Amino acid sequence: MMLTSIIPALLALAGGASAALNVTGSTCTVTPLPASGGREPDDSQQILDAFKQCGKNGKVILEEGLFHIGKVMDLKDLSNVDIEIHGTLRWSSDIQYWLRNSIGVEYAQRSTAWRIGGQDISIRGFGKALFDGQGQLWYDQNRGGSNQAGRPISLTLWHAKNVFIDGITWRQSQFWHTFVAYSENITMTNLDMNSTSNSQWSTVNTDGTDTWNSKDVFIKNWTVTCGDDCIAIKGNSTNIQVSDVHCYESGCATIGSLGNNPGNAPDYVQDVTFDNITCTHSSNAAWVKTYSGNGRVRNVTFSNIRAENVNQPIYVTSCIYTARGCDQSRLPIQDVRWINVTGTSRYNIAAAIHCSASSPCSGFSFENVEITPLDGKSTPKYLCSNIQGQAESGIPCTGTCPADWPQQLNGNR
Ligand SMILES: *[C@@H]1O[C@H](CO)[C@@H](O)[C@H](O)[C@H]1NC(C)=O
Ligand SMILES: *[C@@H]1O[C@H](CO)[C@@H](O)[C@H](O)[C@H]1NC(C)=O
Ligand SMILES: *[C@@H]1O[C@H](CO)[C@@H](O)[C@H](O)[C@H]1NC(C)=O
Ligand SMILES: *[C@@H]1O[C@H](CO)[C@@H](O)[C@H](O)[C@H]1NC(C)=O
Ligand SMILES: *[C@@H]1O[C@H](CO)[C@@H](O)[C@H](O)[C@H]1NC(C)=O
Ligand SMILES: *[C@@H]1O[C@H](CO)[C@@H](O)[C@H](O)[C@H]1NC(C)=O
Ligand SMILES: *[C@@H]1O[C@H](CO)[C@@H](O)[C@H](O)[C@H]1NC(C)=O
Ligand SMILES: *[C@@H]1O[C@H](CO)[C@@H](O)[C@H](O)[C@H]1NC(C)=O
Repeated sequence: MMLTSIIPALLALAGGASAALNVTGSTCTVTPLPASGGREPDDSQQILDAFKQCGKNGKVILEEGLFHIGKVMDLKDLSNVDIEIHGTLRWSSDIQYWLRNSIGVEYAQRSTAWRIGGQDISIRGFGKALFDGQGQLWYDQNRGGSNQAGRPISLTLWHAKNVFIDGITWRQSQFWHTFVAYSENITMTNLDMNSTSNSQWSTVNTDGTDTWNSKDVFIKNWTVTCGDDCIAIKGNSTNIQVSDVHCYESGCATIGSLGNNPGNAPDYVQDVTFDNITCTHSSNAAWVKTYSGNGRVRNVTFSNIRAENVNQPIYVTSCIYTARGCDQSRLPIQDVRWINVTGTSRYNIAAAIHCSASSPCSGFSFENVEITPLDGKSTPKYLCSNIQGQAESGIPCTGTCPADWPQQLNGNR
């Protein structure tokens, strides 16, 4: 027997607005609240109510239309739930609210607007779901400043297991588009992200995704334009497989940053593949960045990487952004392969690799790496320092790479 009850989501709404949350059995269907008295409605409470009633062994459907999200949504213990999103979610412009209330996610004191955890969760957008972070407001008020405390990540998976996310579009994300933390067996496919500032201020840190303390993450068929790292594998990530991704205006395929933790906690990254990645007009393409901290990177493959006008396609550093302790780092980088890396570098540097003298890199190899400087006439340079087994690596080293080599260049070297 079907049990139908209708929960008026916002009793306080003047004029008795029609109910927007329809609960039928274990299926909760949410339709956007109408505007009332010229004021923007807030759909976050009725969405939270839907998850309260249907977030375990159920289904939550967000219908077509525009949902206004005015509050943080913290959904930590979902289980066996299918989430269908057919409409747009637009996060409110109340920057002061978000700065005070975004949910902390431990990593580097970052925080998020929406956190999802639990197990056996699918979130499907059918190519129709649109997440609009109204990021331009964030980019403009940040005025190109560095990471702002409280500036929220759009969506965080947190202690989540067996999750499938598919067919969602993001525009103008507030901060990172997604973050995968303390999670395992996460599949994220067919996602389209674009956060591009239309003012003089750059977006600053609108990464496509970052994985951290997570394992078995599968990413496939994404298009990302973001102004910062496209796909970044951070500390304690194991078995991360990324394929068929096109990154624009980004750091593209990134391991790191690593080795910069409070109390010198180690960062381990193991078993990562990036395959069939195109990096267009990007800062770097297939790179590993660590601070001079603790941990290890082991078994990384960058294959079928296409660079199109990339500032410095292959880059490895043991002292990112600081040039401090470059040769004292205790974070060895081992067994990294670059296979079929082709395309164009903006200047005459195809690869710059500076490993720590105290923890040299080992097991590096190049196979069919062919990068041509954009000007069509410079000879590409491959700079190498502290690589064990360099002679057998296949890296056509043309010189040494100084410790303080920059992440981005502004001309031939
Ligand atoms: C609630 O959903 C059920 C199942 O889809 C539908 O039959 C019913 O008409 C809906 N009720 C309202 C008030 O929309
Ligand atoms: C991993 O998650 C997927 C959903 O994306 C699920 O179908 C699959 O059964 C999970 N695998 C395991 C081993 O639980
Ligand atoms: C890749 O994802 C896009 C959405 O970003 C979608 O339109 C396209 O159909 C997907 N391609 C495949 C092969 O599934
Ligand atoms: C991303 O958005 C900007 C601004 O709207 C646009 O110029 C650019 O072409 C978009 N990128 C892609 C890959 O569509
Ligand atoms: C590589 O990825 C692109 C999407 O960026 C896709 O269109 C293309 O089919 C993929 N190529 C292979 C060989 O899978
Ligand atoms: C990574 O995992 C190790 C244990 O394997 C732990 O000691 C360390 O604190 C973790 N690092 C971070 C940054 O969480
Ligand atoms: C390296 O990582 C890949 C991708 O995660 C995995 O399939 C492979 O088994 C790993 N190789 C070794 C030697 O551990
Ligand atoms: C490298 O490219 C060649 C030629 O296109 C292809 O046959 C080979 O499978 C590629 N290697 C990998 C590891 O994808």
